[in-house]
Amino acid sequence: MEPTTHYALEIKNLKKSFGAKSVHRGVSFGVKTGEILGLFGGSGTGKSVILRSIIGLETPDEGEILFHGRNIVNIGELEMPPIRKKIAYVFQNGALFDSLSVEDNLAYPLRAHSSLSDEEIHNRVNQMLDLIDMPGTNNLLPAQLSGGMQKRAGLARAIILEPEIILFDEPTAGLDPPNTQRLISNIKKLKARGSTGIFVTHDIPSAFEIADRIAILYNGKIHVIDTVDKIQKSKDPLVQSFILGAGDA
Ligand SMILES: Nc1ncnc2c1ncn2[C@@H]1O[C@H](COP(=O)(O)OP(=O)(O)OP(=O)(O)O)[C@@H](O)[C@H]1O
Ligand SMILES: [Mg+2]
Repeated sequence: MEPTTHYALEIKNLKKSFGAKSVHRGVSFGVKTGEILGLFGGSGTGKSVILRSIIGLETPDEGEILFHGRNIVNIGELEMPPIRKKIAYVFQNGALFDSLSVEDNLAYPLRAHSSLSDEEIHNRVNQMLDLIDMPGTNNLLPAQLSGGMQKRAGLARAIILEPEIILFDEPTAGLDPPNTQRLISNIKKLKARGSTGIFVTHDIPSAFEIADRIAILYNGKIHVIDTVDKIQKSKDPLVQSFILGAGDA
């Protein structure tokens, strides 16, 4: 059997039902250190529930979620916070605090979870604003930002503690092509810095641009997981229907 220790994150035989509705029927896949795994699947197939389960917002009925080989399902209130600092979840709309400036939004995790001085925090915030191509926006309120900027600021806040793993839940949804491209280039910069991630999306071209491998969730299981190249060349009708954009139907 293939050794599993090279996975930063491994999902093993996850099962989850909501009432009579069985969403996950044995989902298994691994994410290697330094790779971005694209996760496709029709609407309602349970992609977000996978991400939410990884950070402990949902509890699987069965199965394991291994973070560097250690099962983090149900590890409890004391042990989860240090792991949560290492796994960032990028919310779809940015999830910024409306009443706080961009600076205070980004500084928030640092003030709560680091011992950096005010000056160090300010410098860190500015580095992040450079990374997301938003220098000088420190004093703006979220309402003064475009949708694309709000998403990038949300990305910056999610990753300001330098997590090992970043979970992206449809980060490009609702963005126009230039803003999609800007966000993709931000994510590419993170990837070049060694970030590991899961990129849940219906945006197939963006996933092909940034992912190393693609997994397709279908009928409660991972139907296929392979390199972008192999997925693009696949003759499997289901894979083809996803690539052609019909997989969501
Ligand atoms: N807390 C919950 N209680 C009950 N049902 C839920 C809950 N969370 C998710 N579901 C159901 O589980 C299924 C999977 O939801 P999920 O949000 O993971 O889908 P998804 O693949 O992310 O879809 P989309 O692409 O539309 O975002 C859906 O049918 C949803 O209604
Ligand atoms: Mg979802």
